[in-house]
Amino acid sequence: MIDVQYQTRLATKDDIQQIKELDDLSFGSHQGVSIEELNQVIENGAIVLLFDGDRLVGESQLITQTFPGSPAFPIDTAYFYGTGVHPDFQGKNIGKLLTAEQEKFAVKQGKTKFLLTIRVENYPSLKLRMASGFKIIGYDKAYYGSNYPEDARVILLKDLGSQNSTPISYKKIPVAFFMSNHDQLAHEKIDQSIKDGFVGHDIDREGIFFALK
Ligand SMILES: CC(C)(COP(=O)(O)OP(=O)(O)OC[C@H]1O[C@@H](n2cnc3c(N)ncnc32)[C@H](O)[C@@H]1OP(=O)(O)O)[C@@H](O)C(=O)NCCC(=O)NCCS
Repeated sequence: MIDVQYQTRLATKDDIQQIKELDDLSFGSHQGVSIEELNQVIENGAIVLLFDGDRLVGESQLITQTFPGSPAFPIDTAYFYGTGVHPDFQGKNIGKLLTAEQEKFAVKQGKTKFLLTIRVENYPSLKLRMASGFKIIGYDKAYYGSNYPEDARVILLKDLGSQNSTPISYKKIPVAFFMSNHDQLAHEKIDQSIKDGFVGHDIDREGIFFALK
């Protein structure tokens, strides 16, 4: 087996075109970041890049201050935009390397909370974030607009200051991560659970574990 070496660095505006190409490739039909947004992200936060040799294979975006059109968030919080890994490199832990750098940057900027949103059916992204301590604290069926379910998102928060108490009991909401593009029943159950005061704590390939706050 050959040694694999990855390098990371922060993006400059000269990198924007190749970031856009990688982002479009990794997200496929979902979302789609614009060049203008990428410029704004670099001006108001950072984009971490990961290279295999001189090939860009991963990118992870965050903002530490708001800009017109960005989501609103408190001053102690960093908002994590998209993270994209080239399809040939997915499932090889690259997401973990990128998001660790993303979190490091936010902490250096004095942030103690990280906020982000994910599609309910996006197992790789939910798994990656929940394994690093994010909890599902919200559900918004119209997060990006009125085109349900494409615009629906769960909202996740990682709070560096919170005490990690282990809940006594969990309920597991099944999610068809790999079977279909949209699992309406899972959306409804997650929405209701959040309204009932539950928080999403953990995930496996069959569903998400919720417990009362
Ligand atoms: C989400 C993403 C950044 C994760 O990065 P990654 O380097 O693939 O992550 P990991 O290797 O740590 O894998 C995380 C989990 O997802 C699984 N996974 C990753 N890619 C997968 C794929 N294409 N199909 C099925 N499972 C996959 C891994 O097996 C792992 O699950 P496990 O612990 O149950 O085995 C990457 O998959 C990606 O770019 N996806 C498309 C864009 C996207 O959805 N971004 C996130 C929204 S902001």
